[in-house]
Amino acid sequence: MIGKLNHVAIVVPDLTAASAIYSDTLGATVSEPVDLPDHGVTTVFVELPNTKIELLLPLGDDSPIAKFLENNPAGGMHHVCYEVPDIIAARDKLVADGARILGSGEPKNGAHDKPVLFLHPKDFCGTLVELEQN
Ligand code: CO
Repeated sequence: MIGKLNHVAIVVPDLTAASAIYSDTLGATVSEPVDLPDHGVTTVFVELPNTKIELLLPLGDDSPIAKFLENNPAGGMHHVCYEVPDIIAARDKLVADGARILGSGEPKNGAHDKPVLFLHPKDFCGTLVELEQN
């Protein structure tokens, strides 16, 4: 069902500093920051030849990643994102198999303006999984 690894997301305490680490120290191509108020995050994408790294900073007062940053003040790996061809079909299969979808269970448009869902980490080896329709 899952296809390509679309990105790995890393929550950071300072987006400018994190962008500089990836662009200057690691020599990668890094995007400008983009605010996603619906998701409570500001994102920077690092383009790699085979996938992307999504740098995330909390945005607003009730950001879903605020608690994560509190628990991991230096930052840390937050989720992996896999591509699926049909997000509703993927969701329905996962729910039928007993997996839990976070939030309302309805896809929201994510960082690439494509529908995304998040799966409960306890059902997926302790890792938060994002599915993106591609
Ligand atoms: Co993501």
